Amino acid sequence: MEKNPTLERLSWLREEISRLKKEKNALIMAHYYQRDEIQEIADFIGDSLALARQAAKTDADIIVMCGVHFMGETAKILSPEKKVLIPDTEAGCSLADSCNPEEFEKFVKEHPDHTVISYVNTSAAVKALTDIVVTSGNARQIVEQLPEDEKIIFGPDKNLGEYINSVTGRKMLLWDGACHVHDRFSLEKIAQMKKEHPGAKVLVHPECRRPLQLIADKVGSTAALLDFAAKDDSKEYIVVTESGILFEMKKKCPEKIFLAAPADDAECQCNECNFMKLNTLEKVYSCLRDEKHEITVDPLIAEKAVRPIERMLAMS
Ligand code: 13P
Ligand code: SF4
Repeated sequence: MEKNPTLERLSWLREEISRLKKEKNALIMAHYYQRDEIQEIADFIGDSLALARQAAKTDADIIVMCGVHFMGETAKILSPEKKVLIPDTEAGCSLADSCNPEEFEKFVKEHPDHTVISYVNTSAAVKALTDIVVTSGNARQIVEQLPEDEKIIFGPDKNLGEYINSVTGRKMLLWDGACHVHDRFSLEKIAQMKKEHPGAKVLVHPECRRPLQLIADKVGSTAALLDFAAKDDSKEYIVVTESGILFEMKKKCPEKIFLAAPADDAECQCNECNFMKLNTLEKVYSCLRDEKHEITVDPLIAEKAVRPIERMLAMS
C-alpha cells in the first residue's frame, strides 16, 4: 500500500509528543475549540473553568496550554512555579482585546461603590482590577451568592452579562465587549436550520446575542452544552458556538447528530475561532521540544490577579 506522508507525519508527531511529555513531566491541556488532532493527544480537555481548576492542581513541571493566551496566563498565575507554554503566541482573543485595561480602570473608578466581576476571557491586567473572576460555567452561581442589592460591574462580554442579568434579575453595569465568533451567529440562519430540522434542539453559548439565547433549548458554557447533549434524549442538535466542540460531542454521543450553526457573514461561513485554530500539532511538538513560547506575567500584576481567580475557585 502507498504511504501517505501527511498521515505518517501526524503519527510521528503523536509519538514524539508522547515521548517528550514523559521525559519532561509535561501536561498537555486543550480547550474544546482546539483542532481535533490536538484534542486527540491532550491529557486534559475542558472548558475555561475546568482548565483553570486543572492548572491549579496539576503536579506537572510543564503545562502546554492548547488554547488562547488568557488561558495560559490564568494557568501561570495559578501555578507560578510551573513553565506554561503556548503553541502559538499569536493565539489571542477578540473578547479579551475588547477590554483595554486603562479604559476599564477608568470605568471602575467612575463606579467606586461597585463590585467588579470579570469574565476569565481578559488580560491579567484587567483581572488585577477585578474583585471576582467568573467563567461562563459559573457566572450565574457566583453572582447569585452576592447580596441582591450589591452594585456590580460586569465585563467584558455584554452578551454573557445580559444573560446573567436576565436569569438573576440583577442590573449589573455591562462593559461593551464581545467575541467576534459568538457575536456573529445569525438568528435568521439558525431559525431556517430549525425549520429544516424541526426535531433538533438548539444549544447556545451565552457569548451569543440575546435573541439567540431566547430561542435556545439550553444556554450554557461548552462543558454545560456537552453535558446537556449527553443526558438529553433528542437525536439532533444545532450547536451555536465554536465548531471545535463538535469533536467531543460526537465522541461522547456517537449515535446523535450535531449540526454546526453558520455565522452571519456572506463571504465567510466560519463559526471557527481563528485564534484557537492557530495551534497545530506541529506547533505543540516544537514548543514542547524547545520549551519555547513561555507565558510570563508581571509579578506585581500576578499578585493582584490571583486573588479574584482564587475567589472564583472558592465560590464554585
Ligand atoms: P467556555 O470555555 O467557558 O465555555 O468559554 C468559551 C470561550 O469562548 C473560550 O474562549
Ligand atoms: Fe476569544 Fe471568542 Fe475565540 Fe473564545 S471563541 S477564544 S471568546 S475570540
